Amino acid sequence: MSIIVAGPASKELAYNTAKLGNLECIDANAKIFPDGEVKVTIPDAEKLEDKEAIIIQSIYPPVNEHLVQLLFMLGKVREHASKITLIIPYLAYARQDREFLKGESVSINHIATILDAFNTAKIITIDIHSRLALSYIKNSINLSAIPLLADRLRDIDDSIVVSPDIGGKDRASEFASLLNKEVIALPKHRDRETGEVKIDEDEEILSRVDGKNVIIIDDMISTGGSIIRASNVLKDRCMDIYVTCTHALLLNGAYDKIIGAGVKEIISTNTIPNPAGKVDVSSLLREVI
Ligand code: R5P
Repeated sequence: MSIIVAGPASKELAYNTAKLGNLECIDANAKIFPDGEVKVTIPDAEKLEDKEAIIIQSIYPPVNEHLVQLLFMLGKVREHASKITLIIPYLAYARQDREFLKGESVSINHIATILDAFNTAKIITIDIHSRLALSYIKNSINLSAIPLLADRLRDIDDSIVVSPDIGGKDRASEFASLLNKEVIALPKHRDRETGEVKIDEDEEILSRVDGKNVIIIDDMISTGGSIIRASNVLKDRCMDIYVTCTHALLLNGAYDKIIGAGVKEIISTNTIPNPAGKVDVSSLLREVI
């Protein structure tokens, strides 16, 4: 029988998943010292002796703290369990999947190397940023929350699906085909030096939203900059704008800023605890474990 280990960053999701799967769930607790060092304790670690441990821990802000918690959990679990399945619903650093500018270190590659040292049987992510990011991680499985998001937004009539950038078009197309809707991708550009986001106002593309409800879908919302730019170019020509994503970090007041930019509702999953996390992915995790 497997036992779920609930990481400090993903307690609720871990307990929901354990309940659905009728599995025992034990806690990993974390403490931070005044100098920033992290200590992890798994009081019931001995229960894992010769069993499969399923660790659930998302890596969202503070990302380095949650990452270190995960490494220390893996170390403790490795002392007892005969097999480790690692579930990282939201994996930070996946956007740094290539050398965009000369001299950059490819972060996700190094995260994958560190995780590999713990000899896990499987590493499971949900809607990881790119296939390239996934390719660095050995024994990985990426699950899609898109069908769950599509079910939640099924009742929005007369709508068109919008990807805020060309890179997200496949994801938006998958979502749109589940709802039998049209799809467009906005021509977004990000300045790699400054991080500034711009969308070209291409009339042929933008006119497709005229008079319709819009559902913008992205893998993640971080500062909300991409969604706000998209809303700015769409809001005067469409009806209501809904925004959906798998991972809602919603940093620096992004929730209020997005609503203030004319978006009617934000709907995300609960891979990261957040006020828009209305779609529970525990059923997805239950299926795979
Ligand atoms: C970019 O490629 C991603 O898919 C997201 O669009 C982006 O990371 C969102 O970041 P922000 O909310 O800061 O614009």
